[in-house]
Amino acid sequence: MSEIGNSVDRAADFLRGGNIVAIPTETVYGLAANALNPLAVARIYEAKERPAFDPLIVHISSASEAPQYVLADAWTPECRLLADAFWPGPLTIVLPKKDCIPEIVTGGLPTVGLRVPAHPLTQALLREIDFPLAAPSANPFGYISPTRAEHVERQLGLKVPYILDGGPCTVGVESTIISVSGKVVQILRPGKISFQDIQNVVPHLDIRQGTSGGVQAPGMLESHYAPGKQVLVVDSLQEMAGLHEPAECIAIWNKNDDPLPAIANSNLFLSQTGDLAEVAANLFAALREADELPGKYILAEWVEEQGIGIAINDRLRRAAAPKSVDPVQS
Ligand code: TXA
Ligand code: MG
Repeated sequence: MSEIGNSVDRAADFLRGGNIVAIPTETVYGLAANALNPLAVARIYEAKERPAFDPLIVHISSASEAPQYVLADAWTPECRLLADAFWPGPLTIVLPKKDCIPEIVTGGLPTVGLRVPAHPLTQALLREIDFPLAAPSANPFGYISPTRAEHVERQLGLKVPYILDGGPCTVGVESTIISVSGKVVQILRPGKISFQDIQNVVPHLDIRQGTSGGVQAPGMLESHYAPGKQVLVVDSLQEMAGLHEPAECIAIWNKNDDPLPAIANSNLFLSQTGDLAEVAANLFAALREADELPGKYILAEWVEEQGIGIAINDRLRRAAAPKSVDPVQS
């Protein structure tokens, strides 16, 4: 079993020794190792059972460290504007890497994703150690990302010696990932930082949504955030009355509607009022809880396709996607 605590010194000791440590961030918990030590990074892939082509995000303590890890020409004034606006925070910027970032971190890609996380414990940790941290979300590959220390312990407790417990994650969905190349910004994964947020900072750049083909961001694999039960997502759960046996259903509501139609024996609420930030913060914990309750179907609702709602709908769509038979995604 993992040791769980809030000692930055203890986490730093494990990391210096080449071990993996689960770390809190404002988005989800990460499974961290010294990004400059290929053997330590290999332990992440091993614990997650993650395919080696899936690159890891490198977490640094401040924007001033970025030029150590990415090519000088790539760290443009626009990148600095984005970093000033959103770091520390839930934005990952993908740029051409320097050779000091080992191939195992980037799955052989010539680029690296950099991010300065906003959680105070992990910031203290990054200041204490003298290397950056490679960290994917701390879940077995293909499963829902963890937003509480106990989620990590439940699934990876036998594989992670130390979990740095920073409480529940406040954002709840993974960072927005962008690549910046010349005047083009490509949004590879939606998150809390929206298209509009980015456009406000770099209005003169060409900002594009969605991947441009290929396995640019394997987080884009269809069934990437899937629980074990079948997830059905509809515009309004009110429409579901009479469609499935309530004993077979767990309903996840975006807000606490009154009165509730009797569509499910278990009802979980993401927010009392339907506030999207709250919906995002509670979504993954609710999917996990629903997965463990008796029943066959998890019923959930789409949110307004705007701001962080785009990220919420993206994760719901992936949770609902049929599981691939491709062993790589299992
Ligand atoms: O919020 C987050 O981003 C969390 C916390 C722990 O920081 N991390 C996270 O990592 O979600 P992960 O590994 O679960 O998802 C990272 C995604 C992957 O889909 C990966 O393919 C993509 O980032 N990625 C990483 N480096 C990349 C690169 N060089 N080019 C394209 N995509 C990259
Ligand atoms: Mg992940």
